[in-house]
Amino acid sequence: MKQDTIKITTAPTGTVIAPELHSQFIEHLGSCIYDGIWVGKDSDIPNIDGFRKDVVEPLAKLQPPVIRWPGGCFADMYHWKNGIGDSRPVTYNGNFGTYKTEDNSFGTDEFMAFCRLVGGKPWLNINMLSGDVREAVEWSEYCNRKESTALSDLRAANGSKEPYNVQLWGIGNEVWAGGGNMTPEMYAQQYRKFASAMPSFVEKTPDGITALPQIFILSGPDGNKPKERVKWTKDLFASLAQYRQPKLDAIDLHFYNWNVGKNADDADDFTEEGWYRVVKNCLEIRDVIDEQYELVQQGIAAFPESEDTNFPSPVHKCDLYIGEWGNWHQSAFFAKDALWQQCSMRDAVTSALTLDIFHHEAEKLKLACCAQTVNVLGSLFLTEGDKTILTPNYYVYEMYMVHRGAQLLADEVETAEAAEGLPAVMTLASRKEDVISVNIVCTDYSAEHEVLLTFDENVFCNGGETLHADKPTDCNTAQEPEKVKPAVNTTARLTDKGWVVRVPAASVNVFHFQIANH
Ligand code: AHR
Repeated sequence: MKQDTIKITTAPTGTVIAPELHSQFIEHLGSCIYDGIWVGKDSDIPNIDGFRKDVVEPLAKLQPPVIRWPGGCFADMYHWKNGIGDSRPVTYNGNFGTYKTEDNSFGTDEFMAFCRLVGGKPWLNINMLSGDVREAVEWSEYCNRKESTALSDLRAANGSKEPYNVQLWGIGNEVWAGGGNMTPEMYAQQYRKFASAMPSFVEKTPDGITALPQIFILSGPDGNKPKERVKWTKDLFASLAQYRQPKLDAIDLHFYNWNVGKNADDADDFTEEGWYRVVKNCLEIRDVIDEQYELVQQGIAAFPESEDTNFPSPVHKCDLYIGEWGNWHQSAFFAKDALWQQCSMRDAVTSALTLDIFHHEAEKLKLACCAQTVNVLGSLFLTEGDKTILTPNYYVYEMYMVHRGAQLLADEVETAEAAEGLPAVMTLASRKEDVISVNIVCTDYSAEHEVLLTFDENVFCNGGETLHADKPTDCNTAQEPEKVKPAVNTTARLTDKGWVVRVPAASVNVFHFQIANH
């Protein structure tokens, strides 16, 4: 059996893993919303007020911190007023090959109800392409105005007297492509107008004025274009640095792990070569995060000082978000429902490795949304008629919940290469009070590994879980919905060198340790 060592320092590094790194993205694309999330109140499929019960209930267990909606590219053609009230027009959805009519039965009020049901905060992406500034402002008024106005009264008539208090507003989506083929300069000009017009929601109290904290999110670069993405971020901030700055709080980078082109294989049919190629490629996102974080800091540092001493320059801060990430297999382009793809152990391993990169980079990255939650790309759920399948990706999120809000710990790994440049074992450790959770992802296609874990304090192992399948190509299907599922890992044993655990080939594992004498 292959041997590896992981050394963990138990003193917190000071970096807290933001729960928002485990956020989700849902879009009117393929069968993500209709069939996947919304079946309607009259459906034979069990539902809670129209929401698919066997999706909503397990998703609520994951408590997704933030949910981004309505797109994606769909947001660029979405007119929110079509999706409220009793009389909703039928429109057409050609987004990414969806090619279906859209009855607009899932709109703003349904999205807010969905967020409440599953326990997530809403991120609304406004239409900057076929929509205008007024439409965006009115959406914000509809969602957030507390005082009685025509738009807030309309919201009340549609069921919510209380404002939704939406804090996250994406201003544009992939504006370098589907969002308008804009240059950074064009986008900066548009952004200035939208951001300046968006209302604020203040309340006067005897103690002063309180305002709803709102986060305005810039459309970031295409993370998959190494040259363009550098130039994009540099040019965008250079343009925003001119004269006075609009409100900006975060930038939304997108990155997909592409399995397309001449080497592409199927999501559930690949060889050892395909395993290593796709698993290795997912690691690139770490360099992209480092690069973009630096560019954003440099961009902000170049913003000019105000020359008005009565009104000093605001302190600018722009967080890095990843609004879309995941594996994108070529077969998704030919699926019956647009961008539908299966999820094998290869996808689970890349999701785990990517989330662990986000955890390690938690000082630089503050939010990340899986693309997408149901029936599209790297899904957590697949639906087929009245059947709902939890994918291996669902279980990765479930197993990793322990890290939300935890302190990142430093680790050192000694392992062989599974393939050129790919470590056979990769890890992440975090601490909540006196409990340490350690992820071990085994990228080795065929060999089981024995891992020695050493700590600089005495610890007891409280057990662990392993997500593993008989074959790396295994998936959950309507016929075999529980083929890939986590199981308890009972291999931990204390030796004179430290704790030793066994992890199967091609697996995701989480072990829990209690610090002694606490
Ligand atoms: O997630 C699918 C699509 O990928 C989104 O609509 C778009 O933003 C991206 O190109």
